Amino acid sequence: MKGILLAGGSGTRLSPSTDSLNKHLLPVYDKPMIYYPLSVLMLGGLKEIMIISTPEDISRFERLLGDGSQLGISITYRVQEEPKGIPEALIIAEDFIGTEDVTLMLADNIFYGQGFTTLLRKAIKDHQHATVFGYRVKDPERFGVVEFDHNQKAISIEEKPEDPKSDFAVTGLYMYDYRAVNIAKNLEPSDRGELEITDINKEYLKCNQLDVELLGRGFAWMDAGTQEALFDAAEFIKTTQQRQGFKIACLEEIAFYMGYISKEALYERGKTMEKNDYGQYLMEIADRKHHQQYWDSIDHHPMLGLVENE
Ligand code: G1P
Repeated sequence: MKGILLAGGSGTRLSPSTDSLNKHLLPVYDKPMIYYPLSVLMLGGLKEIMIISTPEDISRFERLLGDGSQLGISITYRVQEEPKGIPEALIIAEDFIGTEDVTLMLADNIFYGQGFTTLLRKAIKDHQHATVFGYRVKDPERFGVVEFDHNQKAISIEEKPEDPKSDFAVTGLYMYDYRAVNIAKNLEPSDRGELEITDINKEYLKCNQLDVELLGRGFAWMDAGTQEALFDAAEFIKTTQQRQGFKIACLEEIAFYMGYISKEALYERGKTMEKNDYGQYLMEIADRKHHQQYWDSIDHHPMLGLVENE
């Protein structure tokens, strides 16, 4: 399974903060926004990731994340010339996807919750045609909305409906087989002048090939696309991290627990930021003597939110 992070868009809803900086590079408390979705792809076990952004911004992402080798993964970069919609990412990445399955993720989506990694890995393992994730929200009209029948089977999906048929938003995490590329190529732009990801999901739904996984109330899903949402997300991350003493979406930590980078590499990386809390955190994890002692396998590691028998 390949991974794509779409970090394009003009970010007008966050202007003036985004007048000279891509939205997905803005900090969500103590790290850039893109760390959060990238952590999701990494926790899912994806190692080949493409980041797509605007012509002006792509080099900034490259400066931030390089070729990914420091995290034990591979990151490549592509440009989306104009914000023509989410499905265009699939067209841009056509050769990268080839005949593999792909997880496409919007780089302003933040997921958090005990058991999320388990759920994600299961979805990747069981994935057949298309899988999306539904989450109950108070303001469904802002999102793609999925409607269910009595057996919890999806029966319709609408993009930003005025009169939503349910409270379940479709989150910005999508898994497709390679056929999604061709579906994307045949889409017509919507009234807002963009190709709509909801139209791809509708195609799969029509063929009875869309799985909708519901994320329960124990999960937090946030899209940091407005000033309010960004502030709320930062506050949530700060509160949770300070209470637990664990960082959320700390890429180096994940790389270490996934077995992608050595303890020494983790420590060295921490040392480059030793004057701040992030760097000290990395050094502290590398220093922990007992980190593997209690957990015989990575799959049971509570630091990665994996829980037995889930
Ligand atoms: C996009 C999708 C929408 C989805 C949302 C999730 O909305 O079009 O279906 O629910 O992402 O973040 P947009 O960010 O374009 O408003």
